[in-house]
Amino acid sequence: MSTNTLKPVLVIGGSGVVGRRAVKALRRLQPELPLWIGGRDTNKAATLAREVGLAEAVRVDLERDDLGLPPDADVSGVVVLLKDDTLRSLKYAQAKGVPSVSFSDFAFDIGPAVALHAHRPARAPILLLGHFLGGVMTLVTLHLAREFKVVHSIEVGGLFDEEDVGGPAASGDMERLTKGVPSPLIRHEGRFLWASGDEATRVFHGVDGTAWTGRAYPLLDVPSLAAATDARTVRLDFAVRPVAARPPGQGAGLEVVIDLTGETAEGVTKRVRHALVDPDVHSGLSALGAALATERLLGLAGGAPVGPGLHHPEGVLDPAYVVERVRESGTRLWKM
Ligand SMILES: NC(=O)c1ccc[n+]([C@@H]2O[C@H](COP(=O)([O-])OP(=O)(O)OC[C@H]3O[C@@H](n4cnc5c(N)ncnc54)[C@H](OP(=O)(O)O)[C@@H]3O)[C@@H](O)[C@H]2O)c1
Repeated sequence: MSTNTLKPVLVIGGSGVVGRRAVKALRRLQPELPLWIGGRDTNKAATLAREVGLAEAVRVDLERDDLGLPPDADVSGVVVLLKDDTLRSLKYAQAKGVPSVSFSDFAFDIGPAVALHAHRPARAPILLLGHFLGGVMTLVTLHLAREFKVVHSIEVGGLFDEEDVGGPAASGDMERLTKGVPSPLIRHEGRFLWASGDEATRVFHGVDGTAWTGRAYPLLDVPSLAAATDARTVRLDFAVRPVAARPPGQGAGLEVVIDLTGETAEGVTKRVRHALVDPDVHSGLSALGAALATERLLGLAGGAPVGPGLHHPEGVLDPAYVVERVRESGTRLWKM
């Protein structure tokens, strides 16, 4: 007889490109956690539910306050792996007093979620996780930054393969970004800027020394890393690598270089460079980030359940723990 008393986590968008992998990562981490895989197409969700076990497909209607779920639906958390511009999914979690994860917000998007929290601050934990790689990059960077007493600058260069594209929801977000609010957020010499012109691009060198012209993005990693380290310069720039430029024998993997400058405990100022190379496309680590955050919020790993509040990944997850899980996933991380 099953002694499972855990309530299900509702994963909206759980059958998408990132969602499927987040659901599988959660299942690996938490074999006993019941999952509801939510979307419009329940056939797609049901196939995945059968594959991972202890899961059900549920039809989610974001046009309804009850999300189209039965009145007695009893969930332990709501993970939203798509841009819900109605915010009904977060309100639903807040009304039930359970944690929620918002995965698709750029830095300029978070106003309405912040207001929802400000309106009922003691009601439920809300995790803003629109960060690069579901918060993994920020946590890895914070782990690496521990060698400094003071961090002066954090410059991240990300190289996506041309064929590393997400599903329709991800394309919709990129279109929203390029059409709506083109200015990226950076911190430059102590000031937060919505950068334009030359400030919005940066040449960075990949692992093999190739120079790439990256473009900055308005990602939540910038305010998170600035808040956690007070580095005066923080930016993330991304470039797309054509298939023809793939290193020999490699597929559509992801490459990230992290340049840090700062002062050590001995008073030495230095610059260090780390590389993160994943043979997998970016949805792999992003899904891992979402899964690690979800189990942490619920108190199924790393400590007691996270209390009501507005949270960022660095406030709830331990960087060293995340680095261990990242290495286990087959991603290589080293000092160059
Ligand atoms: N923070 C990060 O690290 C990170 C990384 C990668 C992607 N993302 C974001 O994650 C999101 C998902 O990307 P993806 O590549 O997985 O896209 P995707 O493959 O299109 O997945 C979208 C999922 O949402 C469901 N969905 C779409 N519209 C819906 C609606 N109106 N009501 C209910 N369910 C709906 C889809 O299922 P149905 O078709 O059955 O409805 C599908 O399961 C995007 O917003 C992307 O920008 C964030």
